[in-house]
Amino acid sequence: MTSQACVRIDHLSFCRGKRKIFDDISLEIPRGSIVGLMGPSGTGKTTLLRLISGQLSPDQGSIFFDDDEINTLSRTKLYQVRKKMGMLFQSNALFTNLSVFDNIAYPLRERADLSEAIIRDIVLMKLQAVGLRGARYLMPSDLSGGMARRVALARAIALDPDLIMYDEPFTGQDPISVGMIVKLMRLLNKNANMTSIIVSHDIEITFGLVDYAFVMAGGKVIGQGKPDELRNSTNEEVRQFLNGLPDGPVPFHYPAKEYITDLMGED
Ligand SMILES: Nc1ncnc2c1ncn2[C@@H]1O[C@H](COP(=O)(O)OP(=O)(O)OP(=O)(O)O)[C@@H](O)[C@H]1O
Ligand SMILES: [Mg+2]
Repeated sequence: MTSQACVRIDHLSFCRGKRKIFDDISLEIPRGSIVGLMGPSGTGKTTLLRLISGQLSPDQGSIFFDDDEINTLSRTKLYQVRKKMGMLFQSNALFTNLSVFDNIAYPLRERADLSEAIIRDIVLMKLQAVGLRGARYLMPSDLSGGMARRVALARAIALDPDLIMYDEPFTGQDPISVGMIVKLMRLLNKNANMTSIIVSHDIEITFGLVDYAFVMAGGKVIGQGKPDELRNSTNEEVRQFLNGLPDGPVPFHYPAKEYITDLMGED
């Protein structure tokens, strides 16, 4: 079976302890698209990216990447499939003891079939793309937040993945850096035809970039559509999220016992 979906999530449920993070969600990410994944903090956006990349396994349901069902793959096959996915982590996750050059070379060296000369060319090409070719001898601790994000991006695209997942790429970036990252995301999507998933709280930037977005809350997909469709949504939860309203159907608190019980010190 060949589908148009790059990622297909089918009736996924996933719990952390007693807490149901996902409750029977299904969604598709079309190949070649840029898709936004939005929702309040703690809804499980990062968790969903980790499920897609096979770092976590669903309790129920399945996740397909192209035609492979991620959670049924052997370790070896999962390892191969993961090379087709690039991930820009919320925390950058650079190796602090490796230089910028070696951070980007790392996934290339892991492949073991590339000569150092080719690795060097690829690393320089990726650094050139993010405007940091001149910074290749620096260590991660010498980088500003914006530079570190761009190095992490260069590393995420080192293997020319089919899918790239960005977890909060704009957080803590100045407007120029945001503009640069947005431009790169568009270029990668268009020229390299990468399917892109963007997790972000920045509604305006994300809506300016994506073809389609999903809004998640309370373990469910509460809204989906093109940016304009979502902006005009009449769904109360979607409106609360998009308009940043503190009061509404989406709870602000992590589930807890009654406040009064806690104050009385009854555990
Ligand atoms: N290792 C873990 N053990 C138990 N619970 C966890 C673990 N990792 C995450 N969680 C819980 O899973 C829920 C979803 O977390 P996740 O990091 O996916 O949220 P998020 O939507 O990415 O939030 P944010 O926007 O703040 O990054 C949270 O309630 C979190 O506390
Ligand atoms: Mg997160």
